Amino acid sequence: MVRKYVYGEPFETEAVVEKIKAEQGTEDTGFGRISLKNGFTFSCQMALDDIVYGLGEANRGINKRGYCYISDCSDDPNHTEDKRSLYGAHNFIVISGEKNVGLFFDYPAKIVFDIGYTRSDILAVSCEEADLYLYVIEGESPLDIVKQFRKLTGRSYIPPKFAFGFGQSRWGYKTKEDYRKVAKGYRKNNIPMDMIYMDIDYMQDFKDFTLNEENFDNFPEFVQEMRKEGIRLIPIIDAGVKVEEGYPVYEEGVEKGYFCKREDGSEFVAAVWPGYTHFPDVLNKDARKWFGGKYRFLIDQGIEGFWNDMNEPAIFYSQEGMEALMETLRGYVEKGVEAIPIWELDKVQGLSNSPDDYKRFYHCVDGKKVRHDKVHNLYGCNMTRAAGEAFEEIVPDKRLLMFSRSSYIGMHRYGGIWTGDNKSWWSHILLNLKMMPSLNMCGFLYTGADLGGFGADATRDLVLRWMALGVFTPLMRNHSALGTREQEVYQFERVEDFRGIIETRYRLVPYLYSEYMKAALNDDMYFRPMAFVYPEDSFAANVEDQVMLGDEAMIAPVYTQNAKGRYVYLPERMLFVKFTGEGGYTQEVLEKGHHYVEVALNEVPLFIREGKCIPLVKPARCVEELDTSHPEMVGFEGAEYVLYEDDGVSKDYEKAENYRKLKR
Ligand code: GLC
Repeated sequence: MVRKYVYGEPFETEAVVEKIKAEQGTEDTGFGRISLKNGFTFSCQMALDDIVYGLGEANRGINKRGYCYISDCSDDPNHTEDKRSLYGAHNFIVISGEKNVGLFFDYPAKIVFDIGYTRSDILAVSCEEADLYLYVIEGESPLDIVKQFRKLTGRSYIPPKFAFGFGQSRWGYKTKEDYRKVAKGYRKNNIPMDMIYMDIDYMQDFKDFTLNEENFDNFPEFVQEMRKEGIRLIPIIDAGVKVEEGYPVYEEGVEKGYFCKREDGSEFVAAVWPGYTHFPDVLNKDARKWFGGKYRFLIDQGIEGFWNDMNEPAIFYSQEGMEALMETLRGYVEKGVEAIPIWELDKVQGLSNSPDDYKRFYHCVDGKKVRHDKVHNLYGCNMTRAAGEAFEEIVPDKRLLMFSRSSYIGMHRYGGIWTGDNKSWWSHILLNLKMMPSLNMCGFLYTGADLGGFGADATRDLVLRWMALGVFTPLMRNHSALGTREQEVYQFERVEDFRGIIETRYRLVPYLYSEYMKAALNDDMYFRPMAFVYPEDSFAANVEDQVMLGDEAMIAPVYTQNAKGRYVYLPERMLFVKFTGEGGYTQEVLEKGHHYVEVALNEVPLFIREGKCIPLVKPARCVEELDTSHPEMVGFEGAEYVLYEDDGVSKDYEKAENYRKLKR
């Protein structure tokens, strides 16, 4: 049962697609109290054992209790435990206990979720303005609530099947030779791979929808050269459009009035990678259509996927911010260095992503001027929507790969997300795992982290362990930052260990794709918290480092340095499968309960539930070369599995022949 309450005059975020009649919001929703004194505050009491799920891409646990989270899309590459805001804003939570209730706060600006932080038994959600929709969803279980919510917000994005292959990325590849080197590194070592990602250096001076003239002459031919190797090139697109006379995207945008403007009507200027840029006003329908149409430049040259970045939008500094800082510093220079209070230097840091800047520009939405900070969390969502809507026109019958850094619920219909600039830290393997079910609750199914870590220097063991988790995440991509240790898998000793892990991914692609498609087509979750599947099991409720995958399996990655294995909790009897290098695997039935399982650095652990089985195929160099005609079934004797399979490109999902029954 869903109830929708309206408070004040909400901005239409279009997160929800189902039409429901809204009731006038009062101070009592039947669940929790609302105060309209200072803005809006929802509060309710939590029982000692209540669990709070949700918030999508957020810090800390699967159970969000005990901390304070702020939906305020932020370009912050230091995901330490104390951080409250990351790149996305996913304002959906489920309180699970005696009663199960889902709450969605459809509000596009900064909103605070104090989940037992100020007072351990109080959940309080507050925002500055009482203009929002509140959806209250009741259901028989957390999963039931999630499914109702997902139906409200529309079908999750479905990528092409090749997107379930492995992808290599690194910030710093510049020339065709750099890309050829990566392709060769994989192919020479017989390691499967489907994608190489193109970071900002492929562009001319970081200008969107351009190619570096010196390095990428005859680009369509190069795209085909890679395709012959079974590899797709996936370029990045950034939010900011470089301010430069003679650059058509800039000139057109100015001429048509499609960039975000200051109060006085001039274009707002923000420095990002290209230097000074303007932000396309993707909240304005016409500007969105215009910007989306620009992706055609690369699609026409054979490109089949993109990643959208810097779309919080990230601002290194604004003209206004820089001028104010210079003014302050000039004052100190005159007085002499000793006069500078050290904390004043923090202002240099404070230049980037400053809340003041987000108040300095406006969107034009249906003819109305809207200040950016009031709708801040919708920017990345609408940039990706621009692309998604354009793809429908440019290639209506074909799926393209698309994922974004920043997002709001609703964007899950147009693309996936990657979880941004993590670090080569062991703790970030665990954070990666914990985010997955929370993201699925909010509709984001095509997701993954930068495997091996983006910032900081990776080590061989960390990359192996992280990739062993990445085997199961729909987006499996190794990406790293300029200046860090190179972490393409062939950079490390004993490359065969990495080959074994990536081959395991490819052996599982038919199964993982099938589970993904079932989740997408049924508004279901690909990854579920254990308590969703074993609600009566009090141990399962507390498990934060294992998650359920589809209806058949459980994953429990090793995420500790120098560990030879890990403890695992089995809520029922399961088959413990360990994929070893060279296509082999071991299997052992383990009884319900706690176990210590040994997992070597080159092994991938998977647990198959009692009475279930999954298909395995032979690896190939890329997804489209996998032979899925006679899968080997692994699991319990007599078990059946329904495999979903389609051409992986077109959008005809509902055909009965897409389903095939397989038996162990
Ligand atoms: C941002 C992105 C990262 C990318 C870099 C350069 O930090 O999050 O993935 O490599 O920009 O484009």
